[in-house]
Amino acid sequence: MKSASELDAADALAPFRNLFVHATEESDLIYLDGNSLGRQPSAVGEVLERVVHGEWATRLIRGWNEGWLDISGSVGDLIGALINAQPGEVTLAENTSVCLYKVATAALKTQSDRTKLVTDSENFPSDIQILKSACSSAGHNHRLEVVDTSSGDDPMGQLVAALDDSTALVSLSHVSYKSGWRWNLGEVNELAETCGALVLWDFSHSVGAIPIDVATERVGLAVGCTYKYLNGGPGAPAFIYVSTDHPQLVNPVAGWFGSAAPFSFDPASPPATGIERFLTGTPHVVSAALVEPGVQMLLDAGIGRVYEKSVALSERFIELSDQQLANFGFEVRSPRNSHQRGSHVALFHPYAQAVGLALINEQSVIPDFRPPDLLRFGFAPLYTSFADVDTTVHRIVDVVESGGIDRWRDENPLVP
Ligand SMILES: Cc1ncc(COP(=O)(O)O)c(C=O)c1O
Repeated sequence: MKSASELDAADALAPFRNLFVHATEESDLIYLDGNSLGRQPSAVGEVLERVVHGEWATRLIRGWNEGWLDISGSVGDLIGALINAQPGEVTLAENTSVCLYKVATAALKTQSDRTKLVTDSENFPSDIQILKSACSSAGHNHRLEVVDTSSGDDPMGQLVAALDDSTALVSLSHVSYKSGWRWNLGEVNELAETCGALVLWDFSHSVGAIPIDVATERVGLAVGCTYKYLNGGPGAPAFIYVSTDHPQLVNPVAGWFGSAAPFSFDPASPPATGIERFLTGTPHVVSAALVEPGVQMLLDAGIGRVYEKSVALSERFIELSDQQLANFGFEVRSPRNSHQRGSHVALFHPYAQAVGLALINEQSVIPDFRPPDLLRFGFAPLYTSFADVDTTVHRIVDVVESGGIDRWRDENPLVP
């Protein structure tokens, strides 16, 4: 195994680390939770200054005609460039939950002769709730089937078995929030297409870390968070992608910003024909503007290089965990095949929460915990170094050897 310092010295993406804010009082902090909330790009400060102190303070209402009106689409197009969508196929809107509801309901309504929506048990719990709501709203006795893929044995085989000619829609998270399992986009799309079903992807845990090519992988519908690997900030608006192959989809939450002429103030204004039809109300201008710097950095870095480093970082972490942590009761619970994994690695430990709290409070390492017994370590390639990986493993050993589990096992914070 090469040394971390050799790998960091040869890393073409290393300079990007300095384009993020690092608090000086925590210079040894290792942040491995970018799969939950990405670090802040330094350029965010300038954008905030421009939008809040420049545009809002001085241009006031004139701002709408000077870029705000189209901000969902212009930032959407940048995200589109990252996933090889055409201009006009991606928009920012609300949050992933609401976007998922809109697109799932729209898709189900176009499939009135088919009543089944298929997802899997490892999908994000809120997505499963939302998909249930979409079934209730679609109005054709739609029902949700949740395929139990929790064993991790042949999820694709289990999905194949669940699809039939009653399937209207398949909706999955490209990368599972817990184990990091990654579906093969092209394979699932082809399978669903053969059955006559649509597919709606949640790209929250893959966009910005894993290459996605919606054109060649024939992705029709997708949503995703912008506050994870896109580094858009807490509560940043989500994105919706609807391919131009699906003009028949109608936004079930129609409102003025999704209409062809919002400023006609005419309740009978027809829906817009492009992706704007999935908007509802006034866009979150300030938050939308803050999404741009993180996406631009990924475009500058090149998603191919980002992914190459993601694989190298996670493989190193897996190898070191096997060597140094297995004896302490840790077990890698993410797929070992990098083609089946996102950019985070889940480690099982019976006292995972206590280990996580000790890492955060005593060791300056931030992973996160998912109940009942998993720690997640997210490797955001633009700001994570190979030395971070090695140091993290050493600090985990330190926690266990120094009795950290006993010090933290009775704590139960509000956000795990
Ligand atoms: C895969 C996935 N989908 C959806 C969501 C929910 O996103 P939001 O709360 O922004 O609607 C999350 C949040 O972490 C997520 O991880």
